[in-house]
Amino acid sequence: SWSMKAFVEEQIQLIRQRVGNRKALCALSGGVDSSVAALIAHRALGDNLTCIFVDHGLLRKDEARKVVETFKDKFHMNLIAVDASDRFLKRLEGVTDPEAKRRIIGEEFIRVFEDEAKKLGKIDFLVQGTLYPDVIESGTQTAAVIKTHHNVGGLPQDLNFELIEPLRDLFKDEVRRVGLQLGLPEEIVYRHPFPGPGLAVRVLGEVTREKLAILREADAIVTEEVKKAGLYGELWQVFAVLTDVKSVGVMGDERTYAYTVAIRAVTSEDGMTADWARLPYDLLDNMSTRIVNEVPGVNRVVYDITSKPPATIEWE
Ligand code: XMP
Repeated sequence: SWSMKAFVEEQIQLIRQRVGNRKALCALSGGVDSSVAALIAHRALGDNLTCIFVDHGLLRKDEARKVVETFKDKFHMNLIAVDASDRFLKRLEGVTDPEAKRRIIGEEFIRVFEDEAKKLGKIDFLVQGTLYPDVIESGTQTAAVIKTHHNVGGLPQDLNFELIEPLRDLFKDEVRRVGLQLGLPEEIVYRHPFPGPGLAVRVLGEVTREKLAILREADAIVTEEVKKAGLYGELWQVFAVLTDVKSVGVMGDERTYAYTVAIRAVTSEDGMTADWARLPYDLLDNMSTRIVNEVPGVNRVVYDITSKPPATIEWE
């Protein structure tokens, strides 16, 4: 639309004036906020913007590949994709407490980012996808907490960046319109929120490569079936959780003893409260049948019928 176009042009000019021919860095997660912020900064600065994408090994199926395809191949950004999964998984060994997982991932993220940034020489600016609701004080601090986990709010002081936050005055729906205006694929523009610690808080208990692989496959099926049913856009979030529960099943003549996958689907306005989604039985049936047939290591699927409160959206 006209107003979004004008907004983008204005931000580009502002960024150019501030940065001149100095350099900027951006932590790209592949979520809509950081993607849109990066695209605006890229229009303004071209190769003087470097984006760092940290693959912590806790992403969904094909997610890392798609980020690289989109930003490097399609938008020709100066993108450094770091496969840091070994580092993260090593530090998560034996860790079961959800907040400990978050803390470790947050710390390690900053270290990886710092290691990469140091290789690049002098950089004065950091581009962040901060939105208006992140800026205003929220009654319950949830937004602030989420941002520190997610959007590298706590980047190291010694790197001493000046912040560029082109989306500071926008709400989510406006960011999406700007994204469309900039040619961002709809898959990214309308993507559901995904927690910064990623699948680590959806693999209950200890995080291992094996459990992550199981969850990735189950989660891909859940998302695919919801999209096929045309319901993705009506949900706030939908995903699979790999519980730590094993139970007995039977497949052919064989007794099995394998994991239980939980499906979580909620509607919500802002994530603060949420209602479990009344998904059609046929859809639930398709998901369940496919997961048990296609994902080795899973023999049971359950549907979470709890709203928030009292439950949270995530299981950890
Ligand atoms: P809960 O589970 O608290 O989640 O109802 C509310 C919203 O926040 C997301 N979430 C997180 N996002 N880092 C994030 O960036 C986190 O540690 C985190 N924990 C929860 C969750 O996906 C939902 O959208």
